[in-house]
Amino acid sequence: MAETDSASPVLDATGVSKRFGPVVALHDAALRVGRGEIVALMGANGAGKSTLVKILTGALRHDGGTIRIRGREGHFASPAAARAAGLVPVYQEPSLIPHLDVADNLRLTRTPREAFLRWASELGAPDVPLDEMTGRLPLATLRILDLARALASEPEVLMLDEMTAALPTDLVERVLKVVRAQADAGRSIIYISHRFAEIAAICDRATVLRDGATVADLPVEPGVEEKIVEQMLGAALTPVVPAAHAAAAVAAAGPPRLRVRGLSVGPRLSDVSFDLRAGEVLGVVALEGQGQDQLFDALAGFRRPDRGTIEVDGTARSFRHPADAIAAGHTLVPGNRADALLMVRPVRENIALPLIARPAKWGPINMREEAAIVAEAIARLQIDTRAQGEARRLSGGNQQKVTIARWIATGVRTLLLFDPTRGIDVRTKRQIYGLVRDLAAQGAAILFYTSELKEIQAACDRSIVIFNGRVVDEIAAGEATEANLMRAAYGLTGRDHAAGVPA
Ligand SMILES: Nc1ncnc2c1ncn2[C@@H]1O[C@H](COP(=O)(O)OP(=O)(O)OP(=O)(O)O)[C@@H](O)[C@H]1O
Ligand SMILES: [Mg+2]
Repeated sequence: MAETDSASPVLDATGVSKRFGPVVALHDAALRVGRGEIVALMGANGAGKSTLVKILTGALRHDGGTIRIRGREGHFASPAAARAAGLVPVYQEPSLIPHLDVADNLRLTRTPREAFLRWASELGAPDVPLDEMTGRLPLATLRILDLARALASEPEVLMLDEMTAALPTDLVERVLKVVRAQADAGRSIIYISHRFAEIAAICDRATVLRDGATVADLPVEPGVEEKIVEQMLGAALTPVVPAAHAAAAVAAAGPPRLRVRGLSVGPRLSDVSFDLRAGEVLGVVALEGQGQDQLFDALAGFRRPDRGTIEVDGTARSFRHPADAIAAGHTLVPGNRADALLMVRPVRENIALPLIARPAKWGPINMREEAAIVAEAIARLQIDTRAQGEARRLSGGNQQKVTIARWIATGVRTLLLFDPTRGIDVRTKRQIYGLVRDLAAQGAAILFYTSELKEIQAACDRSIVIFNGRVVDEIAAGEATEANLMRAAYGLTGRDHAAGVPA
């Protein structure tokens, strides 16, 4: 563990408060980080983590409380001022400007290009396309570039807000290594993630926020996870039923809802075949960029396959447009929540969206029915609607819940989930696995790609493994140990029958 110097912390915030109109986002937040220390900032969705980071980096102004940087009280009037003082964030959402190319984005923030490229390469993105519009780059790449840009400015305090949430396992490991090395070199790090394995791997302490107040500050040692969860949930702790695996019998009955044969899309996806039945949750295991994006794009009608067939309920379909896929009952929850939400429209409207397209018996939309459906969805996923307004005002995790909530009561035939639990806290994740199982039990056919292998175990009946554009393996629920999944994802063959860590 790195040497800590808590007698004179680099950053020391106490009693921080912040309201957004009637919403109290923070009322008594405290956070302290010493030189060379990595402090995990934990808390359920909506606890106030991102708000605190934005205050510390000058993007938001706090209402009350004290912030001391290297012993001196003050705050930053702007992110540029914070950056100049060595406080640099990687925010929860990608922050490169989408309609500018990478080079222009660097110019805009006066980021030294050499250092940026060096870090990008160190983080596993060696060939950064400097002249590419950033909006065209995949989410995982955007996150790596955000971090490379932050590191290039040699921060004294680096704040990472769920920066690993959209990354596949291999890139997460690189990020963790780099972050730990930064701390060992004397930098201070505030690290936000909902994944305990990451906290255990690199963090020295964990500070827990609950409903806007700091409620615990714990050393990270074996067994701390339980204590963190207890503090995160507080009195609201309700027993969570782990997602039960649906009987394979449900899935085995009946013809496949979706039959994919020899599907090839561009240079990335070749000759992919599988069946997906009603009542079944089929996992897709793949490291970043193995062709899973192209598979989902083709199934959702965003890209036309070069070869192969997609049969829905026994009939071959060709999707020329997403509307064709929707007409065939294919519903996509995309990886980037910004693509799924109407950010400046009310949460209620975002949830009710699918109802609008539904044939109605009595005139266009039954308002009372809509209100009931929305209320049920909000209650089931415990969406934090204190913000009572536009979707963009919700915390990141709560936004992600909205993208799923809208399918609860409206019913769905084939659900294509692309990394749906990114940035969702532990309790809600379990609710989502339960929800996915319920939808399957009601007859939905579900294809579930996740960048977190653990989720395959929690939610899927079986999985296909895509490596280098091809299906290389199929793994039944009983064999889905993390080691087996990991090995398969790396294109290795062979299984073991006990759970363990891959070599
Ligand atoms: N601009 C805003 N207007 C209104 N309310 C807001 C705004 N930004 C955040 N909030 C509210 O403040 C609270 C804290 O949100 P915050 O984004 O800090 O949570 P978080 O801990 O980062 O959650 P997550 O894990 O989901 O990212 C939430 O209730 C959120 O809806
Ligand atoms: Mg957040």
